[in-house]
Amino acid sequence: MLTVLTGFMGSGKTSVGESLAGMLGCPFLDLDSLVEKAAGKRIPQIFAEDGESRFRALESETLRKTVAKYSRTDSVLALGGGTSCNLEKSLTIWLRTSPETLLQRLQGTAASRPLLAGHDLKTRIAELLAERESAYEASADIIIDTDGLTPEDIAQEIILTAL
Ligand code: S3P
Repeated sequence: MLTVLTGFMGSGKTSVGESLAGMLGCPFLDLDSLVEKAAGKRIPQIFAEDGESRFRALESETLRKTVAKYSRTDSVLALGGGTSCNLEKSLTIWLRTSPETLLQRLQGTAASRPLLAGHDLKTRIAELLAERESAYEASADIIIDTDGLTPEDIAQEIILTAL
């Protein structure tokens, strides 16, 4: 089964995914990295040269192909913070994280995250969270609150709760 991690930028999808896949002994797939591989360039460059809508098209296409390829194997997939999805036959986990923790974790990361670049970080987090929280919740089979936990703690909690 495909275990899918969703949540805001900085919620720990990649680090938790790596840890969880290591504990389960299965492949880890990172959608952002797969998109970069497909495009042959880094995400900030895709946004700058091709625009967000091209990035979103590439992201959905890469997600579709990845799910088609891996849905019948055990693997862990980390989505991007803005990936829209509603996947059948998979277990989707929302790594719910408070705005305060996100603010701490996202300081200094705007260069690699075009949706944060040039904005006041606290205001931007509040704005995007307000737009997205209901979608994270709607797609989630399980919610894990990540504040104060390490990626390893969170991976353990996922295994105990869900797998
Ligand atoms: C985005 C989140 C990023 C990446 C892109 C857009 C978003 O992934 O997909 O910069 O819309 O929230 P992370 O959540 O892994 O930072």
